[in-house]
Amino acid sequence: MSYSSTERHRAESPLRLDLTNILDEVVGPKHGLSTREMESWLDRLRDALKAVEAERLGFLDLPERRDLLAQVERVSEKTLGGIDTVVVLGIGGSALGPRAIFETAWGPFGLGDVGKTGGPARSLLIADNIDPDGFVQLLSQLDLKRTLFNVISKSGSTVETMAQLSIAWRELAAVVGEEDVRKHLAFTTDPVRGFLRETAMRHDIAVMDIPENVGGRFSVLTPVGLFPAMATGLDPKLLLDGAFQMHERCTNQEVESNPAALLALIHFLMDRLKGKSVAVMMPYSDRLKTFAEWFGQLWAESLGKNQSPDGEERAPVGQTPVRALGTTDQHSQIQLYTEGPNDKLLTLVRVEDPGVDVALGAPPLTGEGKGLAYLEGHSLGEVFRIEQTATEMALVRASRPTITWRADSVGPHVLGQLFQVYEMATAIAGQLYNVDAFNQPGVEEGKNLTYGALGRAGYEEKGEELASYQNRAESWIVGGAK
Ligand code: PA5
Repeated sequence: MSYSSTERHRAESPLRLDLTNILDEVVGPKHGLSTREMESWLDRLRDALKAVEAERLGFLDLPERRDLLAQVERVSEKTLGGIDTVVVLGIGGSALGPRAIFETAWGPFGLGDVGKTGGPARSLLIADNIDPDGFVQLLSQLDLKRTLFNVISKSGSTVETMAQLSIAWRELAAVVGEEDVRKHLAFTTDPVRGFLRETAMRHDIAVMDIPENVGGRFSVLTPVGLFPAMATGLDPKLLLDGAFQMHERCTNQEVESNPAALLALIHFLMDRLKGKSVAVMMPYSDRLKTFAEWFGQLWAESLGKNQSPDGEERAPVGQTPVRALGTTDQHSQIQLYTEGPNDKLLTLVRVEDPGVDVALGAPPLTGEGKGLAYLEGHSLGEVFRIEQTATEMALVRASRPTITWRADSVGPHVLGQLFQVYEMATAIAGQLYNVDAFNQPGVEEGKNLTYGALGRAGYEEKGEELASYQNRAESWIVGGAK
């Protein structure tokens, strides 16, 4: 196949944040923000930024934590010899980051870059659900002698991950022998606490740290994301360098040119003043498709709250994140976004050079006078770019406020920048909304009810609550035999 390609893993230039299409003068005063509206919040925004920095949040330091990188290098050396498949057992923040990194590095089909020799050094499979249908299918196809399970859990106790571990352990023992199970495991967890940490100590299993002050969904730049990255042959420094470059921009006290502060403010004001209760993340890049999923978790779980940071009940807040992909979703969701309720703030990620391009045309179809003649002389990348511009313009014409990230190319360096800016924006938005962006009481409740139902000591009351729910009278069931 003949195509042209460019160097993807070069040190990319900084992402540019184009905010033109959120302004009132572009999308109208009902849906756009005026400079006056934003200026009146700048003092509050400065305070929010200061408060985030004063909290000395662990994720802020991650781009510089070369000690964690060294740990990943050590564990990789110790565990990956003779391994051709790494299976991540983890859920939520323990799975979405590794998946976003894998797809950005190796492409949506996991095949690597065209024109380069080989794809990833090892297969990476991420088991982030416990539907037996998928999990048993996965396990039954693995060559366990050549598989390493990277068990990722900050708390070291999440029921889904622990359930998966117990099965993987038993299956490994049957194939490699109880003595050697430990050689097929690497844990990523809290540095001191939790069942995984204790188990690692007791059975001499390789273990890496998620710093104590870094929560699950903020942990992608710890060994959570870095070890799976390295296992596939990606240099994790590319991610860290991108994140560091963005970190410098996001700590700029001049909030008018701080991308994280601006993102936080715009999302907040769009929600509160303009009724944009939905935040759509729509990259035009296959490689960033799962970044949008990662963003969805971060935004939803951090900001969807009904308590103030001191635990007082308050009016519920939070924007609903939606993930979309260009151009794919132009043929499903864009109809809603241009003509449906104007309750969304869209974010597009535009990649100028996707790394490869290919000419269009096949004479019987595209020759002179043929039905597809209009394609002749153009390339696939050109169509892709034109469609991005066309969508952007259609949204503006329909008065839909839209943020656009502009990237020269796409790769781990860009992803590192995106991780860092959205983590920081989330923390600042937490301040503006006056919620604790780092807890997840709504998630904990489901976990505790499950522990209770399974008979875990200390959760007896929760077990009873779930049992009484299950026994409640069913008052409206339509169809089917009981
Ligand atoms: O962001 C979070 O804290 C959660 O989404 C967690 O990542 C998820 O619940 C898994 O928790 P753990 O890493 O403790 O297994």
